[in-house]
Amino acid sequence: MALDAFRDELAATAAALATAGKGLLAADESTGTIGKRFEAIGLENTEEHRRAYRSLLATTEGLNAHISGVILFEETLFQASTAATGGAPIVDLFQQQDIIPGIKVDQGVESLSGGLAGESWCTGLKGLAERAARYYERGARFAKWRAVLKISSTGCPSELAVRENAWGLARYARTVQEQGLVPIVEPEILMDGDHDIATTASVQEWVLRTTYEALAMNGVFLEGSLLKPSMTCPGAACPEQAGAEEVGEFTVRTLSRTVPAAVPAILFLSGGLSEEDGSLCLNAINQVAAQGYAPWHLGFSYGRALQHSCLQRWGGSDTAAGQAALLARARANGAASRGAYEPGSEPSDDTSLFVANYSY
Ligand code: 13P
Repeated sequence: MALDAFRDELAATAAALATAGKGLLAADESTGTIGKRFEAIGLENTEEHRRAYRSLLATTEGLNAHISGVILFEETLFQASTAATGGAPIVDLFQQQDIIPGIKVDQGVESLSGGLAGESWCTGLKGLAERAARYYERGARFAKWRAVLKISSTGCPSELAVRENAWGLARYARTVQEQGLVPIVEPEILMDGDHDIATTASVQEWVLRTTYEALAMNGVFLEGSLLKPSMTCPGAACPEQAGAEEVGEFTVRTLSRTVPAAVPAILFLSGGLSEEDGSLCLNAINQVAAQGYAPWHLGFSYGRALQHSCLQRWGGSDTAAGQAALLARARANGAASRGAYEPGSEPSDDTSLFVANYSY
């Protein structure tokens, strides 16, 4: 079906995901990545353990007060919940809570031939329309595609990497919109490196400008799309780290220079920030935005910063403790997306969640 047939529905889905005080739970870790999370709590990476963990997420009572949508990995979209939770499809459990299911559709990054060392391009365009139609049929209403760029003293990102990743995002966005899925456009800039915050800001302006040019060239319907950027932070190894307020100021400046007002929401990834820092920075972004001009909902689409203490507290068996921890971080980030988070008011884990050269 042509994009025109889906315009109203895409805009309505994007607006629902952009509900004030809410954000997304990114639970779309690939089988390999969730394995690393399980390893950290001494749990084997089996289908049953993945089922148990994702059933825990889907049956967290009250999650919908702070979470408008959940990003799933393909296995979960087609997976039944545990017998203890009734055995219903996991996707139905989220839908029953009015949490909109979404799906990771990229197939991971590969080394970019012709690019600089460590640069990548994102794969998954072949057969994407057919996959997207199948995911829609199963209940998914939005999609995610994570392109990854890095900043380095050796010249990264190259123009080739910026253009290739922008183009891939735009081809993906157009393709899934034609199947009724709202595209989350995610040009992640890794925190790896010792560059300062001003460097991140200028690279991010370039990346976002190039991305929106590519989206325009592909006729992507912006009102039915969402942006998932990293916050404008200094490199993890920069000697001058920035406080939340500075991150807020730089991030809002970067976005206001580059993101069209037609985009309903900007939902940040946590990118290696600790749970508490993820909430503090989002809170600061909203406070800065409230003082100036920011036409979009500024929320969250966190993976690590929503799930870290949940995984620790669950430990493979204590469902109630895991759910309480998840709810605490969801509440914190819901408040932060209104600029109303009281620092330290919800339990969190201070661990830095930064992982060098992170893959999802
Ligand atoms: P983090 O919040 O852990 O960075 O992950 C979000 C995500 O979906 C990355 O693609």
